[in-house]
Amino acid sequence: MKKGKFIVLEGIDGSGTTTHSNKLANWIRSKNLEVMVTEEPTVGAIGKIIRKYLFSGEGSPPVHALLFAADRAEHTEKVIKPSIISGIIVISDRYVESSIVYQAAEGLDIEWIEAINKFAIEPDLTIFLDVDPGIALARKREVREKFENIEFLKEVRRIYLERIRVKNFPVIDASRPIEVVHEDIVRCVESFLFKT
Ligand code: TYD
Repeated sequence: MKKGKFIVLEGIDGSGTTTHSNKLANWIRSKNLEVMVTEEPTVGAIGKIIRKYLFSGEGSPPVHALLFAADRAEHTEKVIKPSIISGIIVISDRYVESSIVYQAAEGLDIEWIEAINKFAIEPDLTIFLDVDPGIALARKREVREKFENIEFLKEVRRIYLERIRVKNFPVIDASRPIEVVHEDIVRCVESFLFKT
């Protein structure tokens, strides 16, 4: 059986990673390919603890980093790897790059964050949805989770853009209407899936 692919969408809160993961999956499905959407934090037990912490403001930066890494380890072993091996195209709404960027914005060393995420696999394609934090937060109906404030998100975006320069991820301007952004994502994934 042909090995699947691993595609990750990244961006600050309110950049539309969830909407676009689902729209991309629908497009891939329309090409008669098998696809699944998954997300981090996950819907599993550790992901639920993370949601509780982010909602209540509990935990310190290293606690967050370790929880995200534990959630990801389980996610990678139980969901992502088996799906790729069975030939499915896996789209993850966030992966390691979110930890590197958000937890570095919380003040942690990138080397340490990378070290505790050593088990993670390299995505075949990572797409960054870029949006100004002011626009992103205005899209959210209610601001409630720990990281959803403008100063923090400005720092998150700055670190994302710095990493992208080095890693050469495709960047898509996500401040535009959903359908226009979707078309750009499709163009990017199409050339990756069918022309490489
Ligand atoms: P997410 O589910 O994308 O946010 P939303 O509640 O808008 O759907 O992620 C929750 C928050 O967790 C978000 O602020 C990003 C943050 N995060 C990290 O700080 N590190 C990580 O490793 C991950 C996966 C998410």
